[in-house]
Amino acid sequence: MLKIAMIGAGSIGQSIIDHFVGKKQLEIALVYDLKTSSLEEVNKKYGIEVESNFDKFLARIKEVEVSLVVEAAGVEAVQSFSLSILNEGIDLALISTGIFGKEDFAQELKEVAEQKNCKIYLPSGAIAGLDGIRAAAVYPLESVVLTTTKSPKSLGIEAKERKLIFKGTAREAIEKWPKNLNVGVSLAMAGIGIDETQIKLFVDPSIEVNTHEIEADGTFGHLSIAVESFPSEMNPKSSILASLSMINLLERLTSHIIFM
Ligand SMILES: NC(=O)c1ccc[n+]([C@@H]2O[C@H](COP(=O)([O-])OP(=O)(O)OC[C@H]3O[C@@H](n4cnc5c(N)ncnc54)[C@H](O)[C@@H]3O)[C@@H](O)[C@H]2O)c1
Repeated sequence: MLKIAMIGAGSIGQSIIDHFVGKKQLEIALVYDLKTSSLEEVNKKYGIEVESNFDKFLARIKEVEVSLVVEAAGVEAVQSFSLSILNEGIDLALISTGIFGKEDFAQELKEVAEQKNCKIYLPSGAIAGLDGIRAAAVYPLESVVLTTTKSPKSLGIEAKERKLIFKGTAREAIEKWPKNLNVGVSLAMAGIGIDETQIKLFVDPSIEVNTHEIEADGTFGHLSIAVESFPSEMNPKSSILASLSMINLLERLTSHIIFM
């Protein structure tokens, strides 16, 4: 059985909890969040121990011998807590892959994970096809372009018609849209890197789904992938597929036959 703890009890965190409670392959020992109302909800609904103080959370996950901490709280939370967790020799699964847009911090994460012999697991998030991109990148890739379209509600902005609101590299994209373009950094890590991956972000008031279209060209040929994912009801900035990708990652970690 895999014993985990979680950081973040928002839309992604709660869907993970909801999926695994009562399943015998995985135990959620503790949930940490800053928002006490969310923690009370989790404790009341699922009977899981909760904590709103990080130092106490850290002490408790050591005490109950958690082997993996799952993050669903945002890039800033990863920056605040991930090194302390790795330093305790505990693995991480991060949904906020945008943290790898911060080069110096990403290097530190890698070094501490190596020193402590820990793993950092990254789910595919709201996009698909990263397996193909990773394989294609073994030989030179010429270009990787992501076109994301979201509703004004999902982006938290006003718009009356479809328009391009951002064009740039994956690094610039995550700096400007830390809650919406983690996908750009994931794609960059799988493919040609954060300064070479191109991102276009459209707002479109006529759509209700979040769409992500990937076009990649290279020595392997051409790859084209389109995903239409419903936004989470609890947080329209996040796609339902993002939660499902973390659930599936955890399922794979507890399985004996693993689709890579
Ligand atoms: N990789 C992807 O494709 C992808 C897709 C969607 C979202 N995300 C990432 O997932 C994150 C969470 O998404 P969500 O929809 O669950 O958001 P949400 O706002 O519904 O929930 C986030 C929760 O984390 C808590 N939190 C925030 N900062 C914290 C901190 N420093 N310490 C402890 N708790 C903290 C909040 O109180 C909230 O309960 C997003 O911010 C984004 O970075 C990644």
